[in-house]
Formats: sequence, C-alpha cells, structure tokens
Amino acid sequence: MTYDTILVLDFGGQYCHLIGRRIREHNVYSEIVPHDIKPEEIKLLNKKFNVKGLVFSGGPASVYDPNAPRCDPNILDLNLPVLGLCYGHQLIAQIASGKVEPAKHREYGIAYVTIDKPVGVLKGLDKKEKVWMSHGDTVLALPAEYETLAHTGSCPVAAFRHKEKPIYGLQWHPEVVHTEKGTQMLRNFIFEVSNCEANWKVEDFIETAIREIKRSIGESKAIIGLSGGIDSSASTALAAKALGKNLTAVFVDHGFVREGEPEFVKSTFEKFGVNFILAEAQERFLQKMVGVADPEKKRKIVGEEFIRVFEEVARQVGAEYLIQGTIYPDRIESGFRKFSDKIKTHHNVAGLPTKMEFKAVVEPLRNLYKDEVRKVAAQLGLPKEIVWRQPFPGPGLAVRVTGEITKEKVEIVRKADNIVTEEIEKAGLKHSLWQYFAVLTETKSTGVKGDARAYGYTVAVRAVESQEAMTASFAKIPYDVLERISTRITNEIPQVVRVVYDITHKPPATIEWE
Ligand code: XMP
Repeated sequence: MTYDTILVLDFGGQYCHLIGRRIREHNVYSEIVPHDIKPEEIKLLNKKFNVKGLVFSGGPASVYDPNAPRCDPNILDLNLPVLGLCYGHQLIAQIASGKVEPAKHREYGIAYVTIDKPVGVLKGLDKKEKVWMSHGDTVLALPAEYETLAHTGSCPVAAFRHKEKPIYGLQWHPEVVHTEKGTQMLRNFIFEVSNCEANWKVEDFIETAIREIKRSIGESKAIIGLSGGIDSSASTALAAKALGKNLTAVFVDHGFVREGEPEFVKSTFEKFGVNFILAEAQERFLQKMVGVADPEKKRKIVGEEFIRVFEEVARQVGAEYLIQGTIYPDRIESGFRKFSDKIKTHHNVAGLPTKMEFKAVVEPLRNLYKDEVRKVAAQLGLPKEIVWRQPFPGPGLAVRVTGEITKEKVEIVRKADNIVTEEIEKAGLKHSLWQYFAVLTETKSTGVKGDARAYGYTVAVRAVESQEAMTASFAKIPYDVLERISTRITNEIPQVVRVVYDITHKPPATIEWE
C-alpha cells in the first residue's frame, strides 16, 4: 500500500520536524527531505509514496545570503501543491521575482494578521488571526500571477497564493502551537489543497517494520542495545516479533544508570521471552572517563565504548547485526542536516564510531516521532511504566555530572535523581512533566550542617514541560514539592550543601545540562 505523502523540504529550520509530525497527526504520512532534492528524485519517490504536496520549511538564513539554501526552481512546475513557511515563503517570492526586503534584524513573537482573502490554506479563518511570526526578510510585493491573502502592519504580503497553481506562502509558522488556528491551516493544505486521503496509521507501521527487519536480517542473529527507555524497548519488542530467539537484548550497565534500572529492565523483558544479557561494564567506562571534562568528548566515549561492549557480546552469541532504537528527532538533533546547527551528539547516533564489526545497523524506528513510538509500544503490549517513561539520555548520569566524572559524583547524582523522582511522583506531577531529574554541578559552596561549616556540592534540579523535546519550558512545580526535594537531598546526601532549581526554557538552554 502506498500512502498519500507530504514531503517537507528542509531549509534548516528548528521547527522542520514539527511540521512533519503535525502532518502525521492527521494520519497523512510525511517525510523530511533535503532542500536541494531534484524534481526527478521527487518523481522517483513516488514509487514508495504517493507524493501529494510539498512544504518548504523555515530556516535561519536570509534569501540574500550567498550560501543560503535554495531549491531547484523547477520544483514549482511539478504541478504539486506547495506551501512555503517563513523562509520558504520568502524563497518562493524570490524565485517568482517578487520584491523581498532584506532583513535588518530578526523579529519574532506573536503577531495579529489581517486575513484579506480566507481561501485555500486560509479557508474558514476570521478577519484577524493570532499567529507566531518569524520576521527575517519581508515580502513587499509579488508579480501579477500571485495575489496577497493576508497582511500585517509591517508585512504587506504575509500570505500569498499563485492565481492558477496551488502554490501558497505564509510568513508565519502554522506548525507552532502559538499560532491559534495553525492546525486548521495545515489541515486546509493537506486535505483541501493537496487532496490527501488520511490513510497512514501508526498501527500499520508495526507490520511493515517487522517485515523490514526480517528482510534485512534474515536467519542471522542480532543484538539490540536495550536501555529500558521507550525507544529501545519498543525496538526490542518489534525485533523480538521479527526474529524470535535470534535476537539477544543487551543491557549495558555502564555505571551511569538510574537506581534499580538493571533489575527493572530484566524483569520486564524476561516476560517478553527475549534472550537477555546484562553486561556489567562499570569499571571500564569509568576508566575511559578519567580526566575528561568536555561534554561532547564524554558523549563520544560512552558511544564508542557501548559499541565495543556490543561487539564483544555479539561475538559471544554469534550476532552479525546490531539493532538500535534511534528515532527521527535523534537524527535531526545530531546534525545530519546540512543547514542546521549541531546541538549535541546523541550517543546512539553521531557518537557511533565509524568502524564497526557489524554487518549492518538496523534502526526500525528511525522515521518515527516520540508520540508515535509510544503508540507502537502500547500496541506491542509493553507495560505503562515503559510507554510513559520519561526520556533518559544514552550516556545517562555521565551527562548529569558536569565536568569530570568520579564514582563518588555518580553516586551522589544517582541518589539525588532518585529523590527528585520519588517526590515528583508522590506529588502526582509525573504525567504533566516531560522530564524531571537532578544534575550534579561543579560548583562547590559553603553550608552549615549540624552547627559546623560544611563545604560541599551544589545539586541542580531540572523539571520541564515539553511536547517533543525540541522546545521545553521549565515547570512551575509547587514550592512545597521543591522544599521536600531540597530538604531530602541535603539531609540524605552528606556531600551536598545546596540545591538550586533550573528556571531556563529550551531554547536557550537544552534540557540536559551537557
Ligand atoms: P537536550 O538536552 O538536547 O535533549 O535538550 C533533548 C532530549 O533528548 C534526550 N537526550 C538523549 N537521548 N541519547 C538519547 O537517546 C542521548 O545521547 C541524549 N541526549 C539527550 C534528553 O534527555 C531530552 O529528552
């Protein structure tokens, strides 16, 4: 079965993946493709998908940058519906020889647009609409074959369409929740303009994925790195269906795991009947970390050592393939894209050493978003504790101790993390938060414990709300919960004298400290 598909051309915008996810929420498949994709390549993709429309994403560049990402202008002649957003909007205007004013500075935030013509993508909208604008360059005028559909005080052409072809541009971001009727705008593009049928369901994914795993691995043996997180758990459950006893799940205890984790994972997956190996590797990871303070180096070391452990286990069990739980945003944030900045190296993606002993790495969830993975996991019968688990980074507590790691520091942060988890969950806040955890900082400060001066560590508590981890807000958790956390940490962990709460959103901070 081929699915109706919208391709999102990636011009480097941070919200690019969000567009993809929002399209899929409507049960229409979407893929993110490079901005310089050729018209012939789009036609070729039709063997796999039924391409019904194209979205040009936003991006950090100005259309006037000499190195700005461009698309092949012939794409606009494919007769496929096109929706340009922000940079995409400006680019279409520039290709059409419209008047685009270069940006003096970038302005963003909420704006109120006047809808002059509620048609096509803007069908059903009111005269005034609240949108999330990102003003770089501004489109001032378009040639006669285009018409303006909306404007603001500073943006004379905030939305446009081609008079004959299904080509639209919006200066704002409909994919962001702050655009009040963003969903309606996307729905209009998907169903009214592109005539898609809502025929993609995450449930169908399971059958296809199992077939693909079987095809890639055949009768050979494979191992999978099982961390107990939602991604690797869902991959394990999928791969177990495809490979049965030819699959061995390996939990690597690198010493940076949460309290009680190896036991929890083992007991959960034993019920699934998979071969399970607990690789005790605490000492070797710790040794590799001696003298290393740089976060990116720490991530690389953990990634590399992981693979070495896997290779050893694979040799023992005779496995030729490695299965990984990499998901779509991991690939995006690790900077596989040309025009987006690399934020950090996720250990299960770019942290991989280039030389591996495996015949191939198979990533069954590589095209799914987190909420889709949760659906898959639930469908596969994984328990709620796993399906709704908060994300935990592959390098684990190693990136929650800032700077150089020691055994003592890891033990402190593990205890603090456990206290944060217990108190948040006791307060019934678990389901409203994306993540909550403790970080051991390098800052030491003076305290007083039992009438004596104490000089000790500072623990930072982080709790965030988020939908997909690309953006996050610090959570306004009640003071009494914070007070209990702080009291318990300073009472139960003698080395800690101070607890602080992280009140930074993402951006500008990331969720993890390293
Ligand atoms: P940041 O810190 O970049 O994290 O805002 C975004 C989300 O990704 C998680 N994270 C990781 N997940 N391997 C993973 O599988 C990693 O190396 C890794 N680093 C960060 C983080 O917890 C947050 O949910």
